[in-house]
Amino acid sequence: MNEGTKEELISQGAEGRVYRTQFQSKDAIVKERFSKKYRHPELDAKITRSRLNSEGRNIEKCRQLGLDSPAVFLVDKHNSRLYMEYIEGCTVKEHLRLVDTNSAEALDLALRIGKAIATLHDGNIIHGDLTTSNIMLRERDVQKIVMIDFGLSYISTSLEDRAVDLYVMERAFLSTHPNSEELFSSLLTGYVQQSKNGKGVSDRLNQVRARGRKKSMLG
Ligand SMILES: Nc1ncnc2c1ncn2[C@@H]1O[C@H](COP(=O)(O)OP(=O)(O)OP(=O)(O)O)[C@@H](O)[C@H]1O
Ligand SMILES: [Mg+2]
Repeated sequence: MNEGTKEELISQGAEGRVYRTQFQSKDAIVKERFSKKYRHPELDAKITRSRLNSEGRNIEKCRQLGLDSPAVFLVDKHNSRLYMEYIEGCTVKEHLRLVDTNSAEALDLALRIGKAIATLHDGNIIHGDLTTSNIMLRERDVQKIVMIDFGLSYISTSLEDRAVDLYVMERAFLSTHPNSEELFSSLLTGYVQQSKNGKGVSDRLNQVRARGRKKSMLG
């Protein structure tokens, strides 16, 4: 399909690689999953296929909810490859490294990320891997939040799944960005403002946090 097109590796993850390329003359990203040798080949093929499918599907769903995410160009099941729009900009992680994380602008960005996550959850999508590397800013514009990396996403209506999704985001914030407590608290404020069941999810988040503390005490 894309024979002869140059591909430049931009990220090597545990389960796949991300390349920058061209797709029908458009700037594109191709995400390729590779097999895990320790997994049974049939099971492995099944997992790879289902991740690829859910990623393509949930990016589309995200867009239907009015959130920005890359346009999907092609789900190439045969080669386990997902072609999508290349987003010109930076990750939120890169952005937060360059600014004062306690500035009004950074807190406002966190607030709007919280609202975007609430919209995703209200649409019954659980992202599954919320980190500041998996949220981008188009043209590096703080107003243009783009959700990416739906490889671990799934559909659910449960409070627990939503709370855990937020807990993952909280852990990611605290481990990636020093002194970011205020940032996450602003994110949660945005989430509660936007969510159809903000109180339910934030109460549940407190339970998830308590379990997390207990677990870390036990080692
Ligand atoms: N559509 C895109 N446009 C521009 N850059 C992208 C795009 N998709 C991914 N990237 C860049 O590549 C990085 C890795 O992509 P992604 O998060 O989708 O893969 P991953 O973390 O390796 O995947 P997984 O978590 O499913 O194993 C992102 O953090 C981002 O910097
Ligand atoms: Mg990622």
